[in-house]
Amino acid sequence: MTHNPDTPRTTESGFPVKPVYGPGDLACWDPEERLGEPGGYPFTRGVYPTMYTGRPWTMRQYAGFGTAAESNARYRQLIAHGSHGLSVAFDLPTQMGYDSDAPLARGEVGKVGVAIDSLDDMRVLFRDIPLDRVSTSMTINAPAALLLLLYQLVGEEQGVSARQLTGTIQNDVLKEYIARGTYIFPPGPTLRLTADIFRYCRSEIPRWNTISISGYHMAEAGASPAQEIAFTLSNGIAYVRTALAAGMAVDELAPRLSFFFVSRTTLLEEVAKFRAARRIWARVMREEFGAKDPKSQMLRFHTQTAGVQLTAQQPEVNLVRVTVQALAAVLGGTQSLHTNSYDEAIALPTDKAARLALRTQQVLAQETDVTAIVDPFAGSYAVESLTDAMEASAVELMNRVEDLGGAVAAIEHGFQKGEIERNAYRIAQETDSGERVVVGVNRYRLDEEEPYQPLRVDPAIEARQQQRLAELRDRRDGRAVRSALDALREAASGTANVLPPMKEALRARATVGEVCGALREVWGSYEPTETL
Ligand code: 3HC
Repeated sequence: MTHNPDTPRTTESGFPVKPVYGPGDLACWDPEERLGEPGGYPFTRGVYPTMYTGRPWTMRQYAGFGTAAESNARYRQLIAHGSHGLSVAFDLPTQMGYDSDAPLARGEVGKVGVAIDSLDDMRVLFRDIPLDRVSTSMTINAPAALLLLLYQLVGEEQGVSARQLTGTIQNDVLKEYIARGTYIFPPGPTLRLTADIFRYCRSEIPRWNTISISGYHMAEAGASPAQEIAFTLSNGIAYVRTALAAGMAVDELAPRLSFFFVSRTTLLEEVAKFRAARRIWARVMREEFGAKDPKSQMLRFHTQTAGVQLTAQQPEVNLVRVTVQALAAVLGGTQSLHTNSYDEAIALPTDKAARLALRTQQVLAQETDVTAIVDPFAGSYAVESLTDAMEASAVELMNRVEDLGGAVAAIEHGFQKGEIERNAYRIAQETDSGERVVVGVNRYRLDEEEPYQPLRVDPAIEARQQQRLAELRDRRDGRAVRSALDALREAASGTANVLPPMKEALRARATVGEVCGALREVWGSYEPTETL
């Protein structure tokens, strides 16, 4: 932002920021109550006592496009370049529970992620990748149960027991109703399915992180940092309440909840945001839900640098933005990090751009000293003041969500969506007026952009994937598939956990579209309300 010295500056979240902070700002500030020790309640300073001094964050680059074979090659390349964990991007038909040959899938197969229709595709996706030695995040929401079960089935084929599997499913449909839009079922059946997943993982896949409660997409839709953590934590509270109502105990499910936030270029406010989020969540879990297990009170999170702040103009400048954003995530104590590729505002990242994104993390982890000290901003007059102000802003918004009856009711009022749209409009106005400087876009422009060669995705992917589907349907035992889908419909109509019958249907080679179709027949599809 350009700044008029006569007007006080405000943060992205809208609270005032001073040019100088000093002892007076922390005069009545109690470090024991506000901070605690690293790895101790209220976890302001980080979730582990040693943080990166013992082990760096997980370098987990989000990737996936085309068919399972193309994505498998990219994952093996990322592992070869030093990536610690995998992060699978699925194409929209998979995310929406449609097969690659569904009419609604036309033109989207393999485009924004990998096309997965069946167990056969999932096997190819992880070919030569030992599932007992990697942790895999899957960005999948409404059909998250299916992709988790397909992962478990591939693990079984590799001789890896479910108890050895580690990873995360995003499985956060509430934020899909607010932003992004890859929902299928109405809120009631969605939350039932979420609780079924929590219970299934508790007994079958205990090291699996059952949900990645996400603020990232709300931030990308225009949410301010305070809105991002407030609406995310409110969604988290709704999921915990759902699981408790389904008969689970808080310390049974909470240790395997995880979160996902954005990291913006406004580094100091972002560090304050992450620290405030941990403190709020720890208080909510201990004081509202009575969680006793420290793991239930720890907010563990993944961060992705802000895609919306990438520019198509002078794309190399994005290398600098991503570095600053990654540094903010690390100084804020992230557990896992994805750094965007500098060319992502233009097209799918080229191999070189994807490698540079990973190298950015490796430079921070190996060449700087930010891994040597835990929570280096602790006690800072400015950052502690920003953390307190961020906490106050977020808690005030969370109280407004509560006043509307909680996250689901607020969603049905269109509250979160409306608040985010208003903030997005403000950002757009400031950018258009030049008040908010975007280097290379509304200032320091080039008369003529330099040439850039994007990665081309083969248009024949859709036809090849549809051919694979036809062969799968010819090969499988149709009667076994039909009876497995009937058993799934019956479970969905009652109260039994739907994951066991769902796994048997997938094992029989029922497709993603057929399984989701069976659930749509029983539960219906969500129709969004208009925002206020
Ligand atoms: N001291 C002690 N133990 C430590 C430690 C330390 N300093 N550091 C790590 N560990 C341990 C942990 O306890 C853990 O052990 P456990 O599994 O037995 O508990 C193990 O080492 C792994 O550490 P983390 O759990 O901290 O790190 P992971 O990387 O495994 O997990 C996570 C991180 C946030 C908890 C997890 O949920 C995760 O990986 N999330 C990723 C989500 C993701 O990638 N999302 C992508 C979204 S992209 C998208 O949405 C679409 C696009 O449009 C943006």
